[in-house]
Amino acid sequence: MSSPPSSPRTSDVLVVGGGIIGLVTAWRAAQRGLATAVVDPEPGGGAAQVAAGMLAAVTELHYGEQTLLALNVASARRYPQFAAELTDLTGHELGYRRCGTLAVALDVDDRAHLRELHALQRRSGLESEWLAGRECRRLEPMLAPGVRGGLRVDGDHQIDPRRLAHALVAACERAGVVFHRVWADRLTVVRDRATGVVTADGAALEAEQVVLAAGSLSGRLAGVPDSVLPPVRPVKGQVLRLAMPRSHGPLLSRTVRAVVRGNPLYLVPRESGELVVGATSEELGWDTTVTAGGVYELLRDAHELVPGITELPLTETRAGLRPGSPDNAPLLGPTELPGLLLATGHYRNGVLLTPVTGDVMAHVLATGELPDEARPFTPRRFSAAALTEQPV
Ligand code: GLY
Repeated sequence: MSSPPSSPRTSDVLVVGGGIIGLVTAWRAAQRGLATAVVDPEPGGGAAQVAAGMLAAVTELHYGEQTLLALNVASARRYPQFAAELTDLTGHELGYRRCGTLAVALDVDDRAHLRELHALQRRSGLESEWLAGRECRRLEPMLAPGVRGGLRVDGDHQIDPRRLAHALVAACERAGVVFHRVWADRLTVVRDRATGVVTADGAALEAEQVVLAAGSLSGRLAGVPDSVLPPVRPVKGQVLRLAMPRSHGPLLSRTVRAVVRGNPLYLVPRESGELVVGATSEELGWDTTVTAGGVYELLRDAHELVPGITELPLTETRAGLRPGSPDNAPLLGPTELPGLLLATGHYRNGVLLTPVTGDVMAHVLATGELPDEARPFTPRRFSAAALTEQPV
């Protein structure tokens, strides 16, 4: 279904892509008084339909990502108010659970890895407590007896990304955002300025500012000059959903993570009884096949961690595409092409970074200025000039 004929074809801001990043950008822009439209055949779809929704600034910290950490932490801090605002406005519960996370080790290699992560967390000023294996099992009695230690991080929470996406669509509707339910086919560039898009049904949508927020598809929009095409690639993640019986009390009370034989694994228990198990990380282009091997590895590793999971009904298997960028950090703000901005490349942190992305994008759309916290994430860091600059 495309947009009704009565929908306005011009706006101040046109957001290409109606995943959670596009939606939060549109919502916050509309709240600033900008006439805003979103073009997407299925707003609220995309990677959020697959993601587990961990808000794991601390437990998902990686070497070399300290700059990103500041943005992740800033966004995590905004979550309580962001979630409350969205729920108050729309009446939608988001499944926001301040449940904390336990990252555990199953063997000596895993333990060495976790010890290093702990040291990095402490050096970065983050709160994280080392626990012995028996202390981990006291917190989560269903963990395997072989667990050798872990990190208790009470500040890493979770949200249900499907509910979040649904609420953001409702919030956009309330704020007057216009939805064009159709694919954007091509960016329109007139006299070296982005002026809108042409849709798959041939309609021309015009806007003062166009935000490309199409997740892993962001590098594929026709008409975007090569010099500003975002260097975003799809990174496949396979995820399982199981159902925990309500009768026996929760199988797990908090998110549990581990690295099992080098494979990152997480189990995210929702209040609804859903248990999300993820995720593979595969560089396979646009493939979203759920494979026997992917499901097998996730179940094998999850069973090693929490043996009781094999009793649970397996309710869903799905694969999604993370929008990976060259430095694993998002691209936020204006490009070298006037009129074209980016909000993409959020890779593993799209759900976590949703609140701060909305604030940053609305600010730059309304004022033309990228806030200080977002400067390191300018898309211009990947421009040819920036990449050839010699360090002095
Ligand atoms: N942040 C979880 C994942 O990317 O799998």
